[in-house]
Amino acid sequence: MIIFFSGTGNSRHVAQALGKELGESNIVELTGDFLRYPEQLRLESEEGGRVIWVFPTYSWGVPPVVAEVISKVNIDGGERADHYMVTTCGDDIGKCHMQWRNLISGRRWKPLATFSVQMPNTYVCMKGFDVDPEQVAMEKIHESVMRVHSIAEFIKQRYKIDDVVEGRWPKIKTRYIYPYFKKHYMNPSGFHVSETTCISCGKCSRNCPMDNIELKGKFPVWGAVCAFCLRCYHGCPVHAIEYGNSTVGKGQYMFPKKEK
Ligand SMILES: Cc1cc2nc3c(=O)[nH]c(=O)nc-3n(C[C@H](O)[C@H](O)[C@H](O)COP(=O)(O)O)c2cc1C
Ligand code: SF4
Ligand code: SF4
Repeated sequence: MIIFFSGTGNSRHVAQALGKELGESNIVELTGDFLRYPEQLRLESEEGGRVIWVFPTYSWGVPPVVAEVISKVNIDGGERADHYMVTTCGDDIGKCHMQWRNLISGRRWKPLATFSVQMPNTYVCMKGFDVDPEQVAMEKIHESVMRVHSIAEFIKQRYKIDDVVEGRWPKIKTRYIYPYFKKHYMNPSGFHVSETTCISCGKCSRNCPMDNIELKGKFPVWGAVCAFCLRCYHGCPVHAIEYGNSTVGKGQYMFPKKEK
């Protein structure tokens, strides 16, 4: 079984590509009620099976919504299965894999191996961070094909390995920056819409994986239950959504380019 969460499509793409490589058709997307009420989610892992968790790295850690699912989901046969982590990132993941290992061990499940895959960056909500230039994004997507292929080979052979790019100062980033970022920066109150640009198409509201956006009158209004996946920002067809003033003039990115 492959369980994935994706804001802007990178991790969905990797989950589906891995599914093809491994002949795995049981692919579950964490979205909507699965994310909001993970304790009600019941999944089944076949005898001697494997559970492959695919998600983006957020601030050198596991996205809080994914951590919540891992802590609360019911997986029949979860204790007999080999668990794998495949995280997509723009650059590097710090000690995200150790955080994931702790979450999985905390359920008395078996964390076997972890992998990272570089994909185009989606984080834009701070000064100095923007999407990758088109050429860089295309190269990352191109290189991910071989990367996914070799990850699938490791998984087939049940390798015990941490095959990840940690980057510099990984412990500091995951242990100190991640919780600070989670508390102070993953806050949907920063989203706002330009009423002169918005065409009231409702796409942001329809596509939010947390059902956190409502069109009140003609314009979107954000609630408090947010995965901070940035799908609303990147998916707006007319770039009407900003985060504070730190996204002004920045790019958008979705994979594939035209959203499903
Ligand atoms: C809130 C947030 C935090 C992020 N933090 C990191 C990070 O710590 N390291 C990194 O390399 N990329 C980081 N990124 C980039 C994403 O991990 C990367 O673009 C990922 O492939 C997006 O996956 P998705 O399209 O499936 O949502 C971050 C993106 C977001 C939205
Ligand atoms: S996706 Fe953009 S244009 Fe459409 S309703 Fe949302 S903010 Fe407005
Ligand atoms: S409000 Fe935007 S950032 Fe938050 S979960 Fe919905 S789409 Fe993602």
